[in-house]
Amino acid sequence: MNKQITRRKFLGAAGAAALASAVGSTATAADNKPVKILGIACSPRKGMTTAKAVQTALDAAKAVNPRIEVELIDLGGLNIAGHSAKPPADDFDAILPKLKDPAFGGLIIGSPSYFRGISSLCKAFIERCAPLREPRTLADKPVGVVALGSFRNGGQELVIEQIQTAMLCFGMIPVGGNSPAYQGATVLSTKDDSGDELGLDTAKKLGARVAEVALRLAAKGV
Ligand SMILES: Cc1cc2nc3c(=O)[nH]c(=O)nc-3n(C[C@H](O)[C@H](O)[C@H](O)COP(=O)(O)O)c2cc1C
Repeated sequence: MNKQITRRKFLGAAGAAALASAVGSTATAADNKPVKILGIACSPRKGMTTAKAVQTALDAAKAVNPRIEVELIDLGGLNIAGHSAKPPADDFDAILPKLKDPAFGGLIIGSPSYFRGISSLCKAFIERCAPLREPRTLADKPVGVVALGSFRNGGQELVIEQIQTAMLCFGMIPVGGNSPAYQGATVLSTKDDSGDELGLDTAKKLGARVAEVALRLAAKGV
């Protein structure tokens, strides 16, 4: 072995190669494809604080890389029934193709805290996603959660946990936000005011993290 190559240099080069591979820095055709992040706002009140906070997360996701495309689906005012033996034709039918889009790369789900739990609209949405478990349509994609409450400790972390747990059933990869929003976005919504800077910052950190993970997985062809 060339004595000029020290152990430290060798390990450094190996580490750099591993990192380049992990972030997909070797250019491939997949590198140029769009990666779509869908945001689902699950408050029955259209365009209110849940939708605004999810949009904040989506904006941060989009800022990560030009390949990231985002779309907000505000369930407020839509008619979405929960699971039943024969689900009725309702507004979920228009959402389903967006989840099956080959460009789909990740999900951000936002729900208000209702009695320390997710809204019934959120539950209905998740239940109607049941056909996406087999074939594994949502599997191996990141999911981040935005939770809102009119109290600072109004159950936001419980809401995050409930949604993350449900999405594990789909094989999705729950991610939190970049530091210090480790678990996800926790937003205080007082009197319809979404000016909770601290909380909205967690939404930005969540959106960025979902986009980063989505890009890494897309680079691996997942
Ligand atoms: C039925 C109901 C139950 C609620 N329970 C809680 C709660 O347990 N904790 C909390 O912080 N806020 C609670 N809230 C307040 C909502 O979480 C809060 O207003 C939320 O931001 C509404 O989202 P929106 O502005 O997108 O509609 C509740 C509101 C309703 C209507």
